[in-house]
This record gives sequence, C-alpha cells and structure tokens, in this order.
Amino acid sequence: MCPIARSLHLAGSGYQFEQSVSVYLVAGNEKAKHMTALKPGECVDTAPFISEIDFTDFRMRVSTERYSCPEYNERERENLWMRTWQVTGRIDDIPNAGDFMEYRLFDQSYVLVRGRDDTVRGFVNACRHRGNAFCEGRGNAPRFTCPYHNWSYGLDGQCLSVAKPDFDGTTEEFVGDKNELGLIEVPVECFAGFIFLNPDSNAEPLTSYLGEAMELLAPYRVEEMVPHGFNVRETVDCNWKVVLDAFQEGYHIQAVHPELVAAMDETQERYRFCGDHSVATAPFGAANDAGVEVEIDGIRNLPATFPSIADSLPRFEELIDKHRGADGTHALPDGITPRLLLQQALRETWVGKGLDVSALTDNQLTDNHFWILFPNFFMTIHAGEATVIIATPHQSGDPNRCQWHVMMLQWFPPDERAASRTALTEVAELDHFPYFLALEQDYEQMERQQRGLRNHGLKEMALTKQEVRLAHFHAAIDSWVERGDRT
Ligand code: FES
Ligand SMILES: [Fe+2]
Repeated sequence: MCPIARSLHLAGSGYQFEQSVSVYLVAGNEKAKHMTALKPGECVDTAPFISEIDFTDFRMRVSTERYSCPEYNERERENLWMRTWQVTGRIDDIPNAGDFMEYRLFDQSYVLVRGRDDTVRGFVNACRHRGNAFCEGRGNAPRFTCPYHNWSYGLDGQCLSVAKPDFDGTTEEFVGDKNELGLIEVPVECFAGFIFLNPDSNAEPLTSYLGEAMELLAPYRVEEMVPHGFNVRETVDCNWKVVLDAFQEGYHIQAVHPELVAAMDETQERYRFCGDHSVATAPFGAANDAGVEVEIDGIRNLPATFPSIADSLPRFEELIDKHRGADGTHALPDGITPRLLLQQALRETWVGKGLDVSALTDNQLTDNHFWILFPNFFMTIHAGEATVIIATPHQSGDPNRCQWHVMMLQWFPPDERAASRTALTEVAELDHFPYFLALEQDYEQMERQQRGLRNHGLKEMALTKQEVRLAHFHAAIDSWVERGDRT
C-alpha cells in the first residue's frame, strides 16, 4: 500500500459502529422508523466533502509518460499487472463443472476452470511438457488434453496421463514423475460474483488486498446480480488508465454530459479512500434544492437510466399523492422530501421482490457509489443495479490501446436470473458498439485524450481538487511501479 494510501486508510478506517436511528414522517401523520444499525455505508454517507479534504499529501501533477511510453509500460506490466488482483469475469460465466475460460493479460494467458468440487481455479495456460498453450477461448471439457502430444490434465490441474508413443505400445518415453507435472496454479478468489486472479503466486489474500472495500460492497449482494442489458468487450484507442481516470471524477459532467447536471449535485460529492481503492458519492435525484415540483419531475424522469427506479415509481406516486392539494401541487411536511419518499418506495419495492436491502443505508438506495477497485475496476452501484467498466491493457502490449469490458448488472429473483442474463458480446477489433449516450460521450473524450497525451511536449497533467481521486489513484500506480523496481 502506498504511503499516502496507507495514511488515508488508517485515518479513515473507523466505521460508524454505534447504532444510528433515523425517524421520518411519511404520509401525513404516519411515522416510519428505520433502524439502521451497523450499516457499513454510513461511513460513506458521512465521508468528507472536497472542502474538508487535506490536500497536503496529494500530488496534483501527474507525469504523462505513463500513458504511452514503452519503457514505462514495461515497468508497469512487471511491477503492477503481474502482482495485483484483477477481475477476470463473473462466476456465472463458468457455472458448471468443466466450464473454462481463458484470461489474457498482455502476452500472458491463464485458464479459469470450475472443478468437480465446484471450486474455481486458475492455471498458467502452458502444458508442462513443452509449454504448448493447451486451452483457448471458453467452453466445457471433462479434462484438458494438450493438442501437441496429448498430455492430459484434470480440472484440478493434476497431470492425468502422459501419452505413450504408439510404435510399440508399451514403452513410455517420459522420464520423470508425472505427479510433479500438474498445471501451474495461480491465486484465484471470488468476491461479489466476480472471479479475481493474481499472476503472483505469493500474492496476499484477496480479503487483505480489498480490505475495507469488501465490507462496504458486501451489503449490495452483487453476487446475486446478473449481467443484464450491456455485456460488451471492445478495444478502445487509449491507455487503460485513461478509462479509469474518466470514471473517477465528476468534473467533466458540465462539459461532456450536460444532460446529467440536473440529476446530480456535484457540490455534495463525498470521498472515501480505502487503501489503494476509493469510493465517491453524490445525492441523486436531489439536485440543487430546486423545489418540490421540480424534484418530483426529476425523479419521474430518472427511469430511462435506472430500471429499478422505474419499478419503484408506482409506490413513489402513491406516497407523493398523499400530499397533493386541490391545485395539483404538493405540500410536504417539514423534513420530508421527494428524495426521502423515493428511498422509502425503493426499499419497499426491493423487499417486495426479495432483495435483502437491510444492510444498505437510505442513501445507498438512490445514490450511486462510484467505486474504483485498484487497479482497473470501476463500478457505479446503488441498490439492485450496477454498471461495471473494467479496462485491461491491450494484448498487443501497445500502451495506446486497451480493452474495456462494460457490464450492466441487475438483481433478479433466483428463478429469473438465468433467463435474464445477457451474454458477452465481443466486438471485432475495428468495430464499435452503440452504448447509451453518457458512455458514448466518455468514449469520444478518451480517445481524444490519448491523442493529446502522446505529445512529447506535454510532460504532466494538472489536476483540480475535484480530481483528487485521480491523484490518489496515480500515487498508488507510482507506488506499485517504483516498489517493483526495488525488489
Ligand atoms: S507440449 Fe503439451 S503434450 Fe507436448
Ligand atoms: Fe463521463
């Protein structure tokens, strides 16, 4: 963990473990009490605003060589990518024994496979005989048989047989003990329905790598969600860090996503740093104290982006309707806002569907939490749905390109999950998938930014305070890359 990250982690790791009770009025004189004890999300609800952050320890200038320089790219590959935990896919990508999928990282290749004991394991994709890549793509197999000389391996990596030459049928030409020649295993662990792999055989456990992030994310029950809507992998003409940078700040919303300005009050953004990882949030559907009628209309206009809010709207309309006067306008009691009623509607709707939201705070029902799990995983999440963007270096090693995987996740009852699952679309190298508006807007800027960053005349970027998470992210990058140089 980098020094900055460590100090922030220590300073910010105290959970709000005391019981907190929020009481608010709904529907006239009816009182609803929400006992919200021991909810990890409370520490994000109360995380610092920009104005409360001490910038002394943040480096707000970031060198640009990291985006296109081949030598830097090589250090980053060896010191960071070959040593960090990274998401390779969803557990339900390989639901049955024998299901496998390949994970490529630069020119390295790994195989993830579900064993007969239901355990997901990872192996270096190289036969122990003469190194042939024994596996390609994805599929199902009872065992792996290397196509070169037919050595075979069990789903647990054990070497099962060394093929005999067929000229005499009796003599095994192999000298050695096949029990020592199982596939080379790499650390693999699962969390939130994702399969994480670390190329480093001495990697620390995923629980200590993710640390507090794991505790903060657990209440969302992401493992019960399935890809629904988008599940797309595509090449983007920019360095992988340009993608991560783009999703760590709301600073570009005014210029790039003007349609989102009304929905999010960025002056209310809160930030929490969890080791090398971080999370930010801002109230959603409560922009700028615009007045009750404007807020109600804002909520009614949200569903196009967030299906779960659409599902809660009927209940929201019932709640808000109790405060509607003869002239059609709404008079809410003191302390009650459309946002609070939306949160109540969401909680009731989710509980009705079967999702356990008891460990989520009210804010986590409506507000997106924007997560970065270092190094390359972005997720924006609120109750019941999430959008994930994973950016991985391009397999060619070209630092000016990367692959991103965009995945929308949604919670469904168990018996609806399989039918609701959207299969992965692999976009051909020169093609482009039509995403939703905001993502198209980001996509355009990312490729433009890479073209600018390639200029040798530009030595560093100058960050603003609202980009503090980029400063934190790049400090962690520096820490991994420089630490690796020393070992
Ligand atoms: S390289 Fe795999 S069996 Fe020879
Ligand atoms: Fe954006």
